[in-house]
Amino acid sequence: MEHISVLLDEAIEMLDIRKDGVYVDCTLGRGGHSSEILKRIPEGHLYAFDLDQSAIDESRKRLEEIGENFTLIHAPFEEFNARLDELQVGQVDGILMDLGVSSPQFDDPERGFSYRYDARLDMRMDQNQPLDAYTIVNTYPKEELLRVLREYGEEPNAGRIVAGILKAREQKPVETTFELVDVIKESLPAAILRKKGHPAKQTFQALRMEVNKELPQLASTLEQGLDRLKPGGRMAVITFHSLEDRIVKQAFAARALPKKVNRRMPIAGNEALHYKLVNKKPITASQAELDANSRAHSAKLRGVERTDEKEEKK
Ligand SMILES: C[S@@+](CC[C@H](N)C(=O)[O-])C[C@H]1O[C@@H](n2cnc3c(N)ncnc32)[C@H](O)[C@@H]1O
Repeated sequence: MEHISVLLDEAIEMLDIRKDGVYVDCTLGRGGHSSEILKRIPEGHLYAFDLDQSAIDESRKRLEEIGENFTLIHAPFEEFNARLDELQVGQVDGILMDLGVSSPQFDDPERGFSYRYDARLDMRMDQNQPLDAYTIVNTYPKEELLRVLREYGEEPNAGRIVAGILKAREQKPVETTFELVDVIKESLPAAILRKKGHPAKQTFQALRMEVNKELPQLASTLEQGLDRLKPGGRMAVITFHSLEDRIVKQAFAARALPKKVNRRMPIAGNEALHYKLVNKKPITASQAELDANSRAHSAKLRGVERTDEKEEKK
């Protein structure tokens, strides 16, 4: 399945691309956003991360048709500073993050991301890492499973579902996506099963986020990226659910909003006013995009700009 890039025009516009600029795409995927960046930087350079080898291989071909001025980095974006230092990259003009799973990952029946296909419980974006969903479901103690389902799935029935998993795994390991769906369905009363939406949706989301350490990686990479922007440089981030969006909103606010407006949010020392929000409210998909791509429904784009010295002293 093809990946249809979400908020493509809006994200590219937000980056306000300079033709000789240095840009980093933290989430290469199938190269939709990276291609548009590369087309606009004939004199610049693009660095793009993905921890999925197939994303790197597929996108390389697509990008080579546009130019040679790019470097693909097969690593988690959490290694942002380490990898860019290794490549002797200094400050950058723009950074993009388009979070989550790509359609080719989600719709590959063998990767175990979806409750719609029967597969081994896997859910790893990086197929070389040891931790997978099978390990979490079958070895995490009760309290840890509860934390994952409550924190990352915001699953109101976490207690029932975890009790069901613990009971099932006393008999035998829960091996596949369909086995887990059955355990979840058996754990919930009929009234809850009749409600709208798939009963396994939040559990699957939570497991995916735990397997791939999505939120801790996001928080750390935002800080690294914000520090590495040149004055005038911009960071644009597309999120797909409220937990991610909250982390982005708070990280940007901590740098861009004055302390008194921002009392309850963490303050990044005296750097608070070296940045400004590109838009006060997040940008969401147009009706035309929503009609064409169901993935766009929950998408939110936020941007921040590092302001230069002159502007700051005004
Ligand atoms: C939504 S897709 C990006 C799609 C891309 N913008 C496009 O238009 O084709 C997200 C991609 O980010 C990658 N990814 C997710 N978390 C990552 C991380 N922590 N480090 C590196 N890549 C990551 C996934 O493997 C996936 O390929």
